[in-house]
Amino acid sequence: MTEKTELFNSLKKKVADTLRGRLRRDEKLRAVCRLLKGNVSYYDWVGFYLVDKTRSRELVLGPYEGEPTEHTRIPFGTGVCGQAAERKQTFLVQDVSKETNYLSCSKNVKSEIVVPLLRRGAVVGELDVDSHEPSPFTEEDEAFLKRIAEMTSNLL
Ligand code: SME
Repeated sequence: MTEKTELFNSLKKKVADTLRGRLRRDEKLRAVCRLLKGNVSYYDWVGFYLVDKTRSRELVLGPYEGEPTEHTRIPFGTGVCGQAAERKQTFLVQDVSKETNYLSCSKNVKSEIVVPLLRRGAVVGELDVDSHEPSPFTEEDEAFLKRIAEMTSNLL
């Protein structure tokens, strides 16, 4: 097993333990962000966007770890986050300078992956990871983050 596989397996267990625990929903989501950002060297910003229950087709920034972002509300279709929500599919951008429909949070960010959280086929939120490294995300990251998204979508 590679080091990365071992790390992801151990993080999946830690996330499962956190989600089973006694914390409140947003505290659990924040703890998940902290686990991911604190243990994967190239995850520089990790956060959840949640679908606004009153204004559908709009994402609202939820718990996150990393630098504050000005993008606290994102309509479906806008940016990498809005496109992932619209398509109900993971959106992986290995080089953000090549993505025209992109909302920049910081000049340091070089790449981003956004995984939708689904409940009964509808998008209820997203897990968003930014990296300061170009092209750091592999299929293993994608599978790992999809699993974390599935686990956390049960909270929403
Ligand atoms: N870059 C995102 C906006 C959210 S920040 O990365 C935190 C986008 O293009 O939708």
